[in-house]
Amino acid sequence: MSSHEDARSLTTTAMRVADLVTDERLREALARGFSRAGVAVEEVQRCFALLPAKRWSEDVFATFLHSWKATHLKMLAIYGLSCRIQRMALSEDGEAREQLWIAAARNAETSYEDLGLDYEGVTHAALYDDMARSFVPSDAWQLEANGVPAALAFKRWVYERMIVDDIPTGLLTNMFSEIYNHAEYSLALGAFTELVDAHYDFTKAEKERALCYIGAHVVGETEMSHFLVVVEALDRYNQARGLHTDYERAERLFTEYLERLGVVMGEMRLRMASEQEGTV
Ligand SMILES: [Fe+2]
Ligand SMILES: [Fe+2]
Repeated sequence: MSSHEDARSLTTTAMRVADLVTDERLREALARGFSRAGVAVEEVQRCFALLPAKRWSEDVFATFLHSWKATHLKMLAIYGLSCRIQRMALSEDGEAREQLWIAAARNAETSYEDLGLDYEGVTHAALYDDMARSFVPSDAWQLEANGVPAALAFKRWVYERMIVDDIPTGLLTNMFSEIYNHAEYSLALGAFTELVDAHYDFTKAEKERALCYIGAHVVGETEMSHFLVVVEALDRYNQARGLHTDYERAERLFTEYLERLGVVMGEMRLRMASEQEGTV
């Protein structure tokens, strides 16, 4: 990140990563998705801008934490998508089979860190749990009833795109989720750090525990590498099947992803704003 100010612009951060892609039309589809969904992107930014404003009640924070988690942590969908590609590889032979194996393996690579490979089995779900408990010590944040409906719908939508829809759509969904996450976690790290510094009396160790989940995705550029391996997975899949990427469909998918997220973050911001105004 070249400056703190830049991290506040999701689009700027995402486009810096998109620039690493050699496929110009894919880069354009990513840029157009972010620009078409500009209102949604703004909604996400406003939500994180509000986060450091006060020490939120456990109710509001539980809603935020359950809902935000529902927009991330998609290991099951990643595994399912790799299974679909592997199943196809088993029915092919020669070069197509080889390309499909690699496509499946590259897609699976996006869950290495989540699974705790190379991190002694410490999963990202465990890190999320540590973060959440730093702010909401009870189990309230884990209750589905505390998630905003749009967040639960988003989680289902992502799962269906990766498991039910055709495989290229699944790969484009996983790919977009990684580039978006890179930008969002970059923004979230600043917002959470500000919140903790302003309103919590954490020791150094407690602060580390509270911020480790988010930091893990940004510091090692984890999500950025994930994005690039899914770009390769799609390329290999296309080669194996003699397909070309449908860039218009990609752009529509990217736009819808952001618009759905904008609704989630907008709902969360409204809950936070009404608490801030003392109406709840
Ligand atoms: Fe993760
Ligand atoms: Fe990732």
